[in-house]
Amino acid sequence: MHYGKFPALKDISFHVKQGDIFGFIGPNGAGKTTTIKILATLLEPTKGRAFINGKCVVNQPEEVRSMIGYMPDYFGVYRGITVREYLDFFAGAYKIERRRRRKVIRDVMELTDLVQIADRDAASLSKGMKQRLCLGKALINDPRVLILDEPAAGLDPRARVELRDLIKELARMGKTIFISSHILTELSDMCNTVGIIEQGKMLISGDIETIMSQVHPTLRFVIRMGGEPGDVKPLLGEVPGIAQIEQADNTLTVDIDGDEALIGAVVQALVQKGISIMGVEREQRDLESLFLRVTRGRLA
Ligand SMILES: Nc1ncnc2c1ncn2[C@@H]1O[C@H](COP(=O)(O)OP(=O)(O)OP(=O)(O)O)[C@@H](O)[C@H]1O
Ligand SMILES: [Mg+2]
Repeated sequence: MHYGKFPALKDISFHVKQGDIFGFIGPNGAGKTTTIKILATLLEPTKGRAFINGKCVVNQPEEVRSMIGYMPDYFGVYRGITVREYLDFFAGAYKIERRRRRKVIRDVMELTDLVQIADRDAASLSKGMKQRLCLGKALINDPRVLILDEPAAGLDPRARVELRDLIKELARMGKTIFISSHILTELSDMCNTVGIIEQGKMLISGDIETIMSQVHPTLRFVIRMGGEPGDVKPLLGEVPGIAQIEQADNTLTVDIDGDEALIGAVVQALVQKGISIMGVEREQRDLESLFLRVTRGRLA
């Protein structure tokens, strides 16, 4: 995808299965919104195609739109219209019959916790309330696929937790969820699959467990040493099971190929050579460490 001459997306390719919660992660300017707008049929790619449930976003945009619920990263709401009227307007746009509309709107408001504020002016809502309203709007047509562009941006911690629970609930209802964020912790206990994008390229994508074992075939430990240890790598030549060592001043990063207990031998060897050990920590195999390994510190 090019904006003029600028290549915003470079041959990205990925697959999201039905029922997945797919976390689309990348720093500012990586190309998340561009990808999402293409999926939501709002932007025609200069090259390439994308399919949602077998329907092409370029050639069958109407069919795609009827299956998706899209929540943009930025949205305004009109003044002088209540929450209920706002949802009713979109229900009308989706041609939901008048008889069914009341129930659909009530269900959506219950799900997104809007009932209490149904008669408030939509423009007067707080950021978090507007986010819920926008999510409610995205749910009006009971979409099979939800595409959410940074839905948690600007929310307070409680609202984030509530949003996460709601998204999980929607996934349990059988919806496929595509959610972008540049905040990893936000996605880590919600997604089962992820894609990491940087400078318009998808660095890695797929099932979290599979990616973890590909990216983390070894166990990584960080050892903090006291004093001025000098270059300690030569001291560890005899220790078995070390896949890789990196040293930055007093911090030693050791990748162990094998059992966790092998780190004991590393520490012992260092101590025997007179190096004092201030701490040993095992790197967690979570989304954050995955992200850091995949992007190799090229990101802020
Ligand atoms: N309409 C446009 N015209 C020209 N360049 C654009 C346009 N929209 C986006 N870009 C550029 O494309 C790149 C990707 O932008 P995009 O908005 O997709 O990133 P993003 O991952 O959503 O970032 P953020 O986390 O800040 O929302 C950026 O370099 C951006 O400047
Ligand atoms: Mg964006």
